[in-house]
Amino acid sequence: MAISAAASIGSLVALMASVTGATAQEADATSQAAAAKLGQEIFLDASLSNPPGMSCVSCHFPEAAFADPRAVSPGAVLGRNGRRNAPSLMYAALIPNRDQEDILEESGEQVWVWQGGMFQDGSARTLHEQVQRPFFDHAEMNLLNEADLAGRLRNSSYAPKLKKGLAEEEWTDDGKVTQRAYRALVEFLKEPMFRPFDARIDDYLAGNKDALSAQERRGLEIFKTKAKCADCHLLHNSAWPQPLLSDYGYDNLGVPSRGESDPGLGGHTGVTTELGQFRSPSLRNVALTAPYMHNGSLATLREVIEFYNKRDLEPERWGKTDYPETVNHSDLGNLGLDDQELSDLVALMDAFTDRSLLEMRKRGDRFPQIPLGVPDSWKMRAYFPDWNHAATPLPAHPPQAGNNTAATPEPSNNP
Ligand code: HEC
Ligand code: HEC
Repeated sequence: MAISAAASIGSLVALMASVTGATAQEADATSQAAAAKLGQEIFLDASLSNPPGMSCVSCHFPEAAFADPRAVSPGAVLGRNGRRNAPSLMYAALIPNRDQEDILEESGEQVWVWQGGMFQDGSARTLHEQVQRPFFDHAEMNLLNEADLAGRLRNSSYAPKLKKGLAEEEWTDDGKVTQRAYRALVEFLKEPMFRPFDARIDDYLAGNKDALSAQERRGLEIFKTKAKCADCHLLHNSAWPQPLLSDYGYDNLGVPSRGESDPGLGGHTGVTTELGQFRSPSLRNVALTAPYMHNGSLATLREVIEFYNKRDLEPERWGKTDYPETVNHSDLGNLGLDDQELSDLVALMDAFTDRSLLEMRKRGDRFPQIPLGVPDSWKMRAYFPDWNHAATPLPAHPPQAGNNTAATPEPSNNP
């Protein structure tokens, strides 16, 4: 079924192309670029909230690498706040779809773990699923339903572009109109400006040893060895031909609670051992995205690294965490780093900042300029996770001996 659908889209593009005289590839690349432009207008449109006034950029601040400098974001309705820290949108379109990875343990046992997915708990499997949610979240843009969003899109300044190629009866179809908007947002987030790979760490990994200071080079060594950061924040290529500084796996670091318990991954998989687990984020541009962790509970990078270093030695400093029973005690919590090593690690994080973002901030622009040589989305299409669409819902974890048997999640304290 998936194959025939793909084939019919392919032949449609070919048909369009033969009419306009362009090749199928050119036609596809052009429509992709047009969708991305439209996506940018939707991203900035503050009429798509109830009450109006809130757009994507209200919580994803350009100067903070498109993250939110507030611990949690206020929604369109006064007094309604979210409970998670809005992450950076840089490199977000490169996060793999949520899927299961099988790992062979040293004991020879095969275990399945979740990897990838959007939102810090992976509750949206794909970016296409993700971009729909802010519109209808009551603590975000607070629209009523699909018809509400479609009505606003039809009244927008960019409506003629959104309508292009749609027959009159399709334009009155709420589902068709909103799907086009979601597609446009996805194409926008795939734009080269969100994946410049022009941080000093990129220059260094490409062979320019002078790109890092002596202190940062020491920090990098600690990152790879003693502190084990690179075990989860990968320095090698995995899902993309350049390193993303994450394996997009899930873990419970035991970060300080902010009151109401947040079940994370386990909240939607129903697996008790996954309660309190969150997806490991990319560390690209992390120096611009304070505060940190899924709930914004740690204010600075120094604090984050002090937490990794001494979490288990100073429980009174960090206070209680939401799900103590699933906290990872084997990889972090007591790293034995001295003050110098700690400072070296903090210094290293600066090398993860994209130059194009620093320049954008200096100029006061809304979006970064694309550095020379960054390939367009059409050229990179095979690497983008949105290239794959699952035809059937994902199965739960395969049954495993011993742990991870499905269970109802603990009741959370959410009202
Ligand atoms: C009211 C604030 C707010 C608005 C408005 C908002 N977001 Fe977000 N966004 C968040 C928060 C908070 C999260 C993290 C939620 C979570 O992890 O569960 C998030 C997560 C995301 C993610 C996932 C990133 C990741 O690493 O998983 C993407 C992509 C995203 N938003 C895009 C958008 C787009 C596109 C819009 C506009 C349609 C938008 N956001 C509007 C607050 C907001
Ligand atoms: C076992 C895997 C693992 C290891 C090892 C690890 N991290 Fe993390 N890291 C994570 C996860 C998972 C999160 C998100 C946790 C959350 O939000 O609750 C995270 C979050 C972070 C954040 C916050 C990012 C943000 O945008 O909020 C920073 C900074 C960070 N890690 C740096 C490091 C450094 C430095 C090291 C080495 C000292 C390290 N990590 C080791 C998995 C890991």
